[in-house]
Amino acid sequence: MKTEVAIIGGGPSGLLLSQILNRAGVATVVLERSSREHVLSRIRAGVLEAGTVTMLREAGIGDRMDREGHPHEGCFLTDDDLMVRINFKDLTGASVMVYGQTEVTRDLYTAQDALGATIVHGVEDVVIQDAYSDAPYVEYTLDGTRMRLDCMYVAGCDGFHGISRKTIPAHIRREFERVYPFGWLGVLSRTRPAHEELIYANSANGFALASMRNQTLSRYYVQVPLTDKVADWSDARFWNKLRSCLPSDVADSMETGPSIEKSIAPLRSFVSEPLRWGRLFLVGDAAHIVPPTGAKGLNLAVSDVHYLHQALIDVLKKGDATGIDAYSERALLRIWKAMRFSWQMTTMLHQFDGEDSFAAQMRKATLRHLSQSETARRDLAENYIGLPF
Ligand code: APR
Ligand code: PHB
Repeated sequence: MKTEVAIIGGGPSGLLLSQILNRAGVATVVLERSSREHVLSRIRAGVLEAGTVTMLREAGIGDRMDREGHPHEGCFLTDDDLMVRINFKDLTGASVMVYGQTEVTRDLYTAQDALGATIVHGVEDVVIQDAYSDAPYVEYTLDGTRMRLDCMYVAGCDGFHGISRKTIPAHIRREFERVYPFGWLGVLSRTRPAHEELIYANSANGFALASMRNQTLSRYYVQVPLTDKVADWSDARFWNKLRSCLPSDVADSMETGPSIEKSIAPLRSFVSEPLRWGRLFLVGDAAHIVPPTGAKGLNLAVSDVHYLHQALIDVLKKGDATGIDAYSERALLRIWKAMRFSWQMTTMLHQFDGEDSFAAQMRKATLRHLSQSETARRDLAENYIGLPF
């Protein structure tokens, strides 16, 4: 097989890149390890930055998002009973869209099917060969047969555990990492959301997030020790813990019910530089991970695709390599700013094991300052709705 751009990984990064390239007349093949059903069963965050919303519309997959998604003009940060509203609309003129990442991925598959795109599921032992040459190719096993895909460029969109990043020789790569000493226990439930807008809660009992998918589907998180297992958390224990972290008004009126999904995710900040090695480009989680506190994971993947798609079109259609030469540096500038914001939100809102009494006071003072300073709220809003591409 032969294509222009071989895309490793059929998550949101790979599918969006493929979708935009196909619409510009660039041929792609997406190689995905899992089944489509498996990809679509993963529950991830649900907040789309303003720029992400525009990108998805431009990629021709905005219709269902515009019909079923919920624009949010603000969110809350709380400190025990103090509720600080961040009014995105007033402070920045923009808003975000609450629409699950799983739905974005589903829309991408539907759109790719309509374009007749080639997405190969169930590939094993993917190896990127000769990436640092003019003739790269990808080898993989499908149904027991070893296959070869020749291409002009390779996009590594295969997430944190993928093979693309590791294809770049270790002496070229620089990795930066912070692992946080807690995880998020997430619960999805068919209940009315605790509030119309998201609540990021700092409290004496730790961090909680009250989010939602729609008027009858809520998504909640509480911080838990990394050693905890899902089995340790009955629904009753979860609801009690969540209530103890939220402002009492919200907790008292909150609807609870059986969980329909429950999982624990560790929190990590990670960047691998550079994003390019020869004809291989890293995109999304393959190159960077953020803790979910700022909802930046998917949005960063989309901004990588923003930089890379134009660069690939320019080089393939016009022989202009300036975009691909600049990709790594341009994308990383924005990635590091989102890293900073996610780290700051995480630090501002979570209890760290063994922390001194000073740390809790710093969180409280930060929240008080936010409640009193429009400048501080504007800075947060600007980052939350998404920095410009
Ligand atoms: N070969 C082929 N496919 C692979 C391989 C491999 N060796 N390894 C992983 N994959 C696939 C995974 O099965 C997955 O479907 O690559 C895909 C990567 O998808 P994601 O992990 O969702 O990463 P990405 O597409 O970059 O999505 C951006 O940012 O913070 C997150 O939640 C956010 O998942 C979102 C992500
Ligand atoms: C979610 O709805 O799953 C969600 C929202 C905001 C975040 C993280 C997760 O920051």
